[in-house]
Amino acid sequence: MNFKTKTLILGLIMIGGMALSQAKATDPDVHARQVLMDTNGGAMKTLGDMAKGDVAFDATAAAAAKAQLITDAGNIPAAFEKNATDPETHAKPEIWANMDDFKAHAAALGKAATALDTTSLDTLKAGLGDVGGACGACHKAYHS
Ligand code: HEC
Repeated sequence: MNFKTKTLILGLIMIGGMALSQAKATDPDVHARQVLMDTNGGAMKTLGDMAKGDVAFDATAAAAAKAQLITDAGNIPAAFEKNATDPETHAKPEIWANMDDFKAHAAALGKAATALDTTSLDTLKAGLGDVGGACGACHKAYHS
């Protein structure tokens, strides 16, 4: 296993662990954006499981997960437009002070997901690190 693959897998494990550990907010707007993020997590799990070899590569499922990520990325700005809060939120208040930058992170995810070539296991592995990197870059800045 090369370094890039190891880094990719570590990133995916972190994202997967996060998805399992978080309680849901009761505020409807916060809840909705968390559900949106969970679909991101689900799509990344589908792709990551294939990349790791935990499940067999399936080009149709991979293409669907890619499409989901592109849709989700497009929906992030609207989902975070309202500065809603909740005891269970992990969104940093800095989002609403830096909305243009936050939106740029969402756009970067859309770009990485669009560039992901899901037609083969090799191309999936090659591009998935960039997608995970786009998730991670935004989380590093705006997820507590
Ligand atoms: C533009 C910024 C941004 C991008 C890009 C982003 N996230 Fe998030 N994500 C957040 C923020 C902010 C939260 C916290 C939301 C809250 O709790 O109110 C979050 C929360 C989550 C959660 C926890 C949801 C819950 O149940 O509370 C998961 C899982 C998640 N993100 C996965 C991903 C994955 C996977 C990607 C990439 C495919 C991704 N995110 C891309 C900002 C981002």
